[in-house]
Amino acid sequence: MTTATPKGLFISFEGIDGAGKSSHIEALAQTFRDHGRVVTLTREPGGTPLAEKLRALMLHDAMDPLTEALVAFAARRDHLVQVIEPALARGDVVICDRFTDATFAYQGAGRGFDLGLLSILERMVQTGTGPSPDLMREPDMTLWFDLPAAVAAERLSTARVPDRFEAQPGEFFARVAQGYADRATAAPQRFARIDANTSREAVWQQIAQAVTEKGWLAVTQAKGQA
Ligand code: TYD
Repeated sequence: MTTATPKGLFISFEGIDGAGKSSHIEALAQTFRDHGRVVTLTREPGGTPLAEKLRALMLHDAMDPLTEALVAFAARRDHLVQVIEPALARGDVVICDRFTDATFAYQGAGRGFDLGLLSILERMVQTGTGPSPDLMREPDMTLWFDLPAAVAAERLSTARVPDRFEAQPGEFFARVAQGYADRATAAPQRFARIDANTSREAVWQQIAQAVTEKGWLAVTQAKGQA
């Protein structure tokens, strides 16, 4: 049987620390595989050997806000060029744990870094990596786990040793949450808001619905065994 290369899909997961993305990322990847798709599962900062080194610096070494933003975007550029674009060209489903919305939410809203400058960096870094020189690469859909900062802090309080971001006070996360809400308002067609302040099962139902509504789970045959 001949099957055309499916169209690559780029899906990002976003939300404040403690919003509960991790298990759902794995579940969504498996769902796509069950529908016959090849999945590239990756994360930011990180996803390449170089970007993982930058991640370690960003999460653990003190730096000023401009340096932090530049490190995030430097890691992103390498990730786009080395991993995301080749995967999309192959027709993979790329599922990325955080992308540029995190920079706007954490470095922008959280740290107070200039949003206009972040937009310039976004355009510079995400343009020219894909098939057409003018395309600014963005996720096809962003699953945004919306959770009040106080609830997320409660969930995180029993978690592991905090990194530089997880160690921030509650007001920081309230600003980050607002930063995500502002990005969602600015790009309503890309964002799918997931109410994360509910049971794991109810969160999964919302994700499945958002992806199904796009028609992305119906396009290829179900997995292997005829
Ligand atoms: P996270 O993705 O939550 O991974 P883990 O579950 O292993 O902690 O951690 C990444 C942290 O980096 C998170 O606190 C958000 C932050 N971050 C930024 O500040 N800016 C960015 O551009 C990105 C991608 C992440």
